[in-house]
Formats: sequence, structure tokens, C-alpha cells
Amino acid sequence: MTDWLKEIDKAQDLEILESIRIGALGKKGEITQAFAALKEADEAQKPLIAKSLNELKNSFALAFSAKKESLEMVALSQALQAERIDVSRFAPRNEIGALHPVMHVMDEIIDFFMQRNFTIETGPMVEDDFHNFEALNLPKHHPARDMQDTFYFGDGRLLRTHTSPVQIRTMLGKKPPIRMIAPGSVFRRDFDITHTPMFHQVEGLIVDGKDKVSFAHLKHILEAFLTHMFGDVAVRFRPSFFPFTEPSAEVDISCHFCKGEGCRVCKHTGWLEVLGCGMVDGNVFEAVGYEDVSGYAFGLGVERFAMLLYGIGDLRSLFEGDVRLLEQLV
Ligand code: PHE
Repeated sequence: MTDWLKEIDKAQDLEILESIRIGALGKKGEITQAFAALKEADEAQKPLIAKSLNELKNSFALAFSAKKESLEMVALSQALQAERIDVSRFAPRNEIGALHPVMHVMDEIIDFFMQRNFTIETGPMVEDDFHNFEALNLPKHHPARDMQDTFYFGDGRLLRTHTSPVQIRTMLGKKPPIRMIAPGSVFRRDFDITHTPMFHQVEGLIVDGKDKVSFAHLKHILEAFLTHMFGDVAVRFRPSFFPFTEPSAEVDISCHFCKGEGCRVCKHTGWLEVLGCGMVDGNVFEAVGYEDVSGYAFGLGVERFAMLLYGIGDLRSLFEGDVRLLEQLV
């Protein structure tokens, strides 16, 4: 018979210990077989052999569980050693995403108009000449088309240069009254510190019955809007020209950087131009088949607002994807 207690004593790990148990007490184990062989043993010897086998079995069990416990302790301390967490090590930071500053400003603008019951309308970024120009009182070869450097696909399609085509699409699809804004991306062939080829606009349009909408309404909502966005600023309407509005105005706010005294940002004028607006031109209503209506429209550049709100010098930096810059803004 194998010296099982010695075998247990020698076992180096739990796996070996288990194989020893199987060798001794498994179905075909040595001790198990010895018990089975008892049947054939000499009657007189039987009690003696049985007694010593039982003693062996008991001492095996004791030695086995003691050894198992000590090997488990070893295994545990080895695991603890190996899996120790070094809290002083540098770990990758878990960055939490945030809204892009432009979207942040966009949301603020949209909120303002939604609270005043404007609907949100959208249109395609790939437009055609009719919606982007023609219906907006910009016939072919009209010099005002040069105001907007357009990306053309060469097959009559183009990238919309402003959100104004959404006015046309909305009016063609609905009857007045209309009270909408159209936020979205627009595209122009422009690239310098205050222009990027893609930027965002929010268009506004109100249409109601004849003589129901006045310039005073337009002035009121834009003053409320601009003081909501920029705080305590003065608002000024300056006569201007857009083919799709008549009369037209550009709207300035007093420079909140220098409080109107004149600085680099406002080019020493004390004023910052922030949007264009006017009463919808009769030719636009005609193009969409509207009769006996009145309305106003306005359009603004979201990046321009972001620039003025966050004091960003170079607009292009908003689109360079430098998280360090973007994190500082919102
Ligand atoms: N579409 C004009 C632009 O992109 C802005 C505008 C919209 C002006 C509506 C007047 C009325 O410059």
C-alpha cells in the first residue's frame, strides 16, 4: 500500500492533492479497492484488516483536509500578490462628453423660440436653384447672388447657402398662419478667421393675414431675443438689403466687450452686427402662391453668436476638434 500520508505531505498544490485523493479514495482508488477486497479476506483476519483500513481512511481524511486548507491559503496569498492594484499608476481618464459650444448656443436659441410657439422646420442641405434662390426673389444673373459664394454640383443642385429655402418649402407645404424657425447647417465658399465653409443658421418666419404682421412685431421679438441671449445690450436696426425682404434691416447689438466704447472686436464702432431681417417681399409670397398675407423673416449665424458669447477670436478653432479648447467654453 502506498504511503498516502507521505504523499499528502509532499503535495505542492491543490491539483496534485486532488489527484492523490482520487488515487486513494476514488472509485478505483487504492484504499477503496482494499475495502472491496475485504470480502475475499480470511474470516479471522477480516476485523483486523477492516480496523486498520478504517484508521487509514480517517487519518487520510484528517491529513487531506489540513493540507487542503494550507494549500488554499498559499493560493489565496499568491493571488492577492499577483492581482494587487497599484493605485499610484496612471490610468486613462474617463472623459465625459459634452455638447459642442455651437450646439449649446443653437439649443438656447431654439428654446427661446419654442417657448413662444414657433414650430421647428427643416429642409435638405442639398438644394436646388428654385428653393435657394429663385423663389427668394433672386432670379438668375441677379447681382445679389454674388453675396453668397455657392458650392454647385454642376447638375443644377447646390449646397444651400442659407436656411431661407426652408421658408419656401414650409410655405409651399402649409397654409398661413406660419410661425416657424429653421435651424440647420449651411455652406459657403469662405474660409478665414470669421468664416468656415460650413456653419449654422437659424431662420425665422412669421406669416399671417394682410396687415396683421408689422415691422414693430419683428422689432419686438428680436429685441427680446437679443437681450435674452446677450443680457443688457442696446439693439439697433440699420437699413439694409436682402432680395427676399422689403424693407430689410441688419441688426446690431452694443458691443458687450467694451460696453460700446470701441474695441478690436467691434472694430471701434461700439456695435456688433448679429442678424439680418425684414418684411417678407411680395415676390416671395407670389412664388409660393400666397395672397393677402403679411410676414416677417430673419436669419442669424449661430457661430457668430457663439463667437460673441464666448469671446472666440478665430471661428475656425470651433471645428478643429481640440477638446482642450471646447472644454473651456461650455
Ligand atoms: N438668408 C440671409 C443670409 O443668409 C439672412 C436673412 C434671412 C435675412 C431672412 C433676412 C431675412 O444672410
